[in-house]
Amino acid sequence: MVFHPMLRTRRRLLAGLPALGFLSAHADDARPLEHIVFGSCLDTHDHPMLDRTLTLPRDLFLFMGDNVYADKGGIPMMQEKYARLKHSRFFRGLKDKPILATWDDHDFGLNDGGSEYPQKKEAQAEFWNWLDEPPDSPRRKQEGVYHAQSFGPVGKRVQVILLDTRYFRSSLKKVPKDQAMLGGTSVPTDNESTTILGAAQWAWLEKVLQEPAELRIVVSSIQFAPEAHGGECWANFPHEQKRLLSLLKGQTALVLSGDRHWCEFSKNGVFDFTSSSMTQKHPRGTPTPNKHRIVPTTYHLPNVGFLSIDWAARSITTKIIAEDGEAKITHQAAFTELLVR
Ligand SMILES: [Fe+2]
Repeated sequence: MVFHPMLRTRRRLLAGLPALGFLSAHADDARPLEHIVFGSCLDTHDHPMLDRTLTLPRDLFLFMGDNVYADKGGIPMMQEKYARLKHSRFFRGLKDKPILATWDDHDFGLNDGGSEYPQKKEAQAEFWNWLDEPPDSPRRKQEGVYHAQSFGPVGKRVQVILLDTRYFRSSLKKVPKDQAMLGGTSVPTDNESTTILGAAQWAWLEKVLQEPAELRIVVSSIQFAPEAHGGECWANFPHEQKRLLSLLKGQTALVLSGDRHWCEFSKNGVFDFTSSSMTQKHPRGTPTPNKHRIVPTTYHLPNVGFLSIDWAARSITTKIIAEDGEAKITHQAAFTELLVR
């Protein structure tokens, strides 16, 4: 997709946007979820991987962040990018089923950014405009885009929890380039006054975890389980990583994540299935070391994640699907294995 910087184009794109309201239309869907498709990092909205994604069985689609790349042109570029996504064949094709989303740095508006980003309020408004969140929605009034939604009848309830790893996040601890790890210059901090989620989001999370659910899916834009690799991950804030794990104890839960532009499956107290990027090739093509990886294969070309729930067998199967429709990584787990201990 070629970015066209003319304001006239932007106005035209923003003008004809329909008020779809698809989020609320599906909010009380009582049918059990069986197929969840999850993806991240879309630097274009016209790509064969996106067409492939629309062919997968799907009860829910999860945008896990970097849904647009809009960290270089301020709010006007963000509006234009969202308008292009909203009008794309891909997004229109997704709208027959529920869509949930969170953001990462590039759609938050600042590369590797956190609480210091001065336009985070404006960016949050654009995020909800993209998703047609009603003007009076409480999600627009709170700070941060975190939210949760449950699907399915009693006995087959899935609670999807979408975290905001940006709005409140403290600055990253960095080392000089000559001390960098393969994934970059970020390193774990031992300063326990720093945060990823922030106090308000932690309090909210404790509350939503009290709601009944047979399975909980936690969406985190950045990886939760892998060991620190120099890039962004929960392992850079070990006290926050421990806190989430202790909150999830006793729950049947898993994490879905994105961000890396390649895929891997890990377990570090809880399963973490990473799918990234939907439209980009990972330039290095090799993974960073990760002792928590549970499947040796990693995948570095455009892909999408595909999670199937077998309610009769009480198990899940997670796959990384490539442009040709083939599963490049597959993992099966019983609900009993998902119990966080
Ligand atoms: Fe990305």
